[in-house]
Amino acid sequence: MATREIHTWPSRVLKERAAPVEEFGEELQRLIDDMLETMYAAPGIGLAAPQVGVSRRIMVIDLSSGTEPEQVLILANPEIVETVGEVTSEEGCLSLPEFSLKIRRAESVVVRGYDREGLEVEVRGEDLLARALQHEIDHLDGVLLLDRVNPFRREIVKKKLKKALAPAE
Ligand code: NI
Repeated sequence: MATREIHTWPSRVLKERAAPVEEFGEELQRLIDDMLETMYAAPGIGLAAPQVGVSRRIMVIDLSSGTEPEQVLILANPEIVETVGEVTSEEGCLSLPEFSLKIRRAESVVVRGYDREGLEVEVRGEDLLARALQHEIDHLDGVLLLDRVNPFRREIVKKKLKKALAPAE
């Protein structure tokens, strides 16, 4: 296992719609292990492959931050099949360091996808898990938090991000 570099805005790979996972072989297993290690090291509770520069529809979530192995969620080719309710809450992203934005999301979701072995799984999530699922699926579609706020707010955040991410002189 190894940590990989986390791409930050405005890296192009973050804006692309990722391609479906088709093979659940060694390369994917290595990618998943690296994504988990990268997420724990960050630290974060979720990570999508485009964030480590790989445009594939694979994501990992662990709300326990590595303390409860049964909480680790690995999803390939996830699709939201049901949403209930709506809730607005502060959200951050490892690709937009230092920022949190108020984002409106479904309160609970049902997601279908595949686990790391390629077996079909269905995940039901509420509250933070629902939010994490929707956030990471957004990454697979090339959608960032910035794309979910109004244009005025977006420009302000972009300016701040440019400053924050500019190399120190
Ligand atoms: Ni993110």
